[in-house]
Amino acid sequence: MKHLLSIDDLTKEEIDRIINRKHLTKVPKIIGTLFFEPSTRTKLSFHTAAYKIGGNVIDLPENSSQKKGESEEDTVKTMSLYANILVIRHPDAGRVAELANYSNVPVINAGDGNNEHPTQALIDLATINQYQCRDTKDITILLTGDLYYSRTINSLLKILSKSDYKIKYLLTDKVKTPPDNVTYIKPTEIKYYIEKVDVLYMTRPQKERWERERFELQDFVLTNELANRMKVRSMILHPFPRNNEIAPEVDKNIRSVYFQQMKNGVDIRAALINHLH
Ligand code: NCD
Repeated sequence: MKHLLSIDDLTKEEIDRIINRKHLTKVPKIIGTLFFEPSTRTKLSFHTAAYKIGGNVIDLPENSSQKKGESEEDTVKTMSLYANILVIRHPDAGRVAELANYSNVPVINAGDGNNEHPTQALIDLATINQYQCRDTKDITILLTGDLYYSRTINSLLKILSKSDYKIKYLLTDKVKTPPDNVTYIKPTEIKYYIEKVDVLYMTRPQKERWERERFELQDFVLTNELANRMKVRSMILHPFPRNNEIAPEVDKNIRSVYFQQMKNGVDIRAALINHLH
């Protein structure tokens, strides 16, 4: 039985198969979702993915027996006796991996604290491949926002290190595991670099994980004035939800691919479900 707890659990070949959606066949199964932390896209796209492959969904109810003091371990064990695969999100780093020990079926990590969000990384790489010009693998990626506390960034850096891209990184914050070939810049300096960027990946302030205020994150808001200075064939990604870091006027910019990124979540997660089960 194979879980997906981290990008480290996937080989380069497996990543290629999933992001190229090689497994979109109908294999009806029941997907159990347990979200111990808020979610819109991740949960709903997993549900949509389940329906799309002819499966069905059971979701841990708000009013579950956890209110009677039942442990998370017993909750996971129970749902794994009903579902064919479990999708778990938890506010504590490492907790999804612990809970996976109580499951009789494969577990997908849908985000654990500031640690990892491997399915978001699969979607991000698929979206970069979709829009990146086929004949060049040399690209410049600017990561901005709350990089240190973001699990999507942690998983994205891991998946990119397993990809064919040769990347020059521009980072506006420290990250847990710094990649090779990185230049650190201040958010206020983005305007001097934006013309060189192929992929601008933005994140919101992860306030729920902060130990102190991070005022410096307010120093950058993407407007059309700035976005229009990027290459025409460049792309703007964001895992969402956004706060104020992208002005709504940017949504119609040709470089904004974050809604397509959101949409890709369904097929990539459907392919992953079939891959694991
Ligand atoms: C992200 C998450 O939950 O980590 N959201 C998502 O799944 N697309 C990003 C975030 O919350 O900022």
